[in-house]
Amino acid sequence: MASKSILIDCDPGVDDAIALMLALRSPELTVEAITVVAGNVPLDLTQANARRICELMQRSDLPVYAGCPRPMLRPLITAAHVHGKTGLDGANLPAPEMPLCPQHGVNALIQQVLAAPEPITIATLGPLTNLAIALIQAPRLIDHIAEVVVMGGGLTFGNVTPVAEFNIYVDPHAARVVFEAGLPMTLISLDVTHQVLTTPDRLSALRSLGTPASQVAAAMLAHYGKTDCATWNLLGPPLHDPCVIAYLIAPDLFHGEPGHVAVETDSPLTLGQTVVSSPSQDSPLPPVNVIKSVDADGLYRLLCDRLAIA
Ligand code: RIB
Ligand code: CA
Repeated sequence: MASKSILIDCDPGVDDAIALMLALRSPELTVEAITVVAGNVPLDLTQANARRICELMQRSDLPVYAGCPRPMLRPLITAAHVHGKTGLDGANLPAPEMPLCPQHGVNALIQQVLAAPEPITIATLGPLTNLAIALIQAPRLIDHIAEVVVMGGGLTFGNVTPVAEFNIYVDPHAARVVFEAGLPMTLISLDVTHQVLTTPDRLSALRSLGTPASQVAAAMLAHYGKTDCATWNLLGPPLHDPCVIAYLIAPDLFHGEPGHVAVETDSPLTLGQTVVSSPSQDSPLPPVNVIKSVDADGLYRLLCDRLAIA
């Protein structure tokens, strides 16, 4: 089967980093470029972290672009308490030597989409600021995008507030622009990623692979998500962003249903909430493939299979 061309927009971030590792060791995908946004940590760190992971994966040839340093309207909030002040605590990777591409990530996103010979797939792993502004700047993009797969939202709970998930909460206005654009979309929310927990056995299996990527992934996971685990009494940190890449590689691991996704942008109490309604011809919102469940064991087998590749 031909490899699927994808663009990844991310805010590395530990789980973003593992998602990049998975994508860069999977022949089913061809990562054409990486655009970076402020999120888990500020943009100067997220863009350097993306380049650190590219170098770790021997992919310093990949173009990495820095996008927006803050949300469209709201002030930036970050998540160093989850990912560490570097954004990749535990990784201990050297400062990157590969250059950051000079073009702004929004312009790069537009250029990459329009230059693609076929409609391209976009994986978003962070706040949706870059994609939203690209869609505003160049509305014709939607004719050149095959699918957008979003890690974000919560169907029944949030991780920043009781109802709002981080990627959406950081930039709810950008999320509305993306969800209302009429793009073919798949949403992978906390309700799914919290089914994918890095239990001690899974962490040991990763660590036993012995490759540079698996060692860095295991070291980061040992630090990452302690806050989440304590908050929800989880058996291990949830692997949010790798779910997006796993979906693109092996969609049969996931089960989704159509729905419409509305984003709260006004209420101070429920800002950033994603409200999913059943499919209806009368909805003013475009349909979204809302993922409901995942084969977590299958996902970890895939992750270990790929991170075992040196
Ligand atoms: O809420 C989890 C999401 O927010 C993940 O993408 C994590 O990396 C952060 O960006
Ligand atoms: Ca992320």
